[in-house]
Amino acid sequence: MRNAAKPTREEASILRTLADSTYQQTADAHGVSRGKVYTIALAHSARKNEERIRERKAERQKRQIEMLSEMMGATQEADVLDYLDSLPSACADLVVTSIPYNVGVRYGDGIASDAMPHLRYLGWMTMIISDIARILKPGGVVFLQCGSTKDDAGSLVPLDIALFETLRKAGLDYQNRVAWLIPHGLTPRGRLSERHESALIFSKGRPATFNPDPARTPQKQPGKRAFKGANKGQLSGHPFGAWPSDVWRIGNVGHNHPEKTGHPAQFPEELAMRAVQIYTGPGDLVIDPFSGSGTTHVAAKRTGRRFSGADLFYAGMANDRAAAADMDDACILPGVSEESRAVWQAEARSRGETPTSIARSMQEDLFA
Ligand SMILES: C[S@@+](CC[C@H](N)C(=O)[O-])C[C@H]1O[C@@H](n2cnc3c(N)ncnc32)[C@H](O)[C@@H]1O
Repeated sequence: MRNAAKPTREEASILRTLADSTYQQTADAHGVSRGKVYTIALAHSARKNEERIRERKAERQKRQIEMLSEMMGATQEADVLDYLDSLPSACADLVVTSIPYNVGVRYGDGIASDAMPHLRYLGWMTMIISDIARILKPGGVVFLQCGSTKDDAGSLVPLDIALFETLRKAGLDYQNRVAWLIPHGLTPRGRLSERHESALIFSKGRPATFNPDPARTPQKQPGKRAFKGANKGQLSGHPFGAWPSDVWRIGNVGHNHPEKTGHPAQFPEELAMRAVQIYTGPGDLVIDPFSGSGTTHVAAKRTGRRFSGADLFYAGMANDRAAAADMDDACILPGVSEESRAVWQAEARSRGETPTSIARSMQEDLFA
């Protein structure tokens, strides 16, 4: 229940009348509209059926929590809005998803589900984003991977621009826009070829988790030392690599890619993996409401996160892929190169420490 401000003298008088009268009788008695009486009642938790409304909300949340536990670790064959609607509020640590672009991709058995009128598509996205905001925990993050859609005249509309305000209006805070650099793709006529897509990263309040290390990149010169200031002569980089940037160079899943399934618009595991590792910890819940071939769920499972999702056409494929994935012991420090390892091992020996202890104290200084 929200904390209502103290009622004004007029509001208090209206609320007293309302206690023993209907909305209409109260409105007539005070010479105000019925809507005004209702608004005052709403603001002060004094609706006629307040108790019942509270009970129904609590029952619904309980049902949704039970439902989520049944849907954990799986992709439901369901419409995105039905799936999101079935989830309890504030349950997800991270939503990672790549939305349909509404450009006529034939998902499923040749059914053109990706061809709505432009305005309807934007309205659909607004409903989805509003529900994503609802299911995020405070501190939860959404990583929305998006390319371009087309309007009804066939003109391209970049989705990061089209959806930016929608995400803000849903009460989320902008964090970053990742440029995913794609090495290969189609060559259009009369335009530059598109070699990047965007991922919008928004959070519900301050992100609860931010782990830079799994997304660090190798330093260009790991042996570089500070040439002035208090740290003069000391290695100027970080043992685990450079601070991650918003430019991610990751190969797309073309025809001969080892991750390629029969899905027409798959994103690479590494993209989802980075988002999962930066914004969640082990055991956290990752949701992909457009699971497709299950890439997000594979990344979540490999890193020991819980996951759930939905797809109208590819749930079977997503579940098979997730079932075949195992927890991974691959290196989670991609910023550590052979060269930097040698530099920092030598440095650590000379200081009588380990590269990890040096990294930890640098991290503590940063967040002190
Ligand atoms: C861009 S793809 C997601 C691909 C996924 N990231 C992957 O790596 O495989 C979008 C997905 O949305 C699904 N989809 C389209 N309309 C849907 C709807 N109304 N409800 C649920 N899923 C839908 C499509 O079947 C498609 O798999």
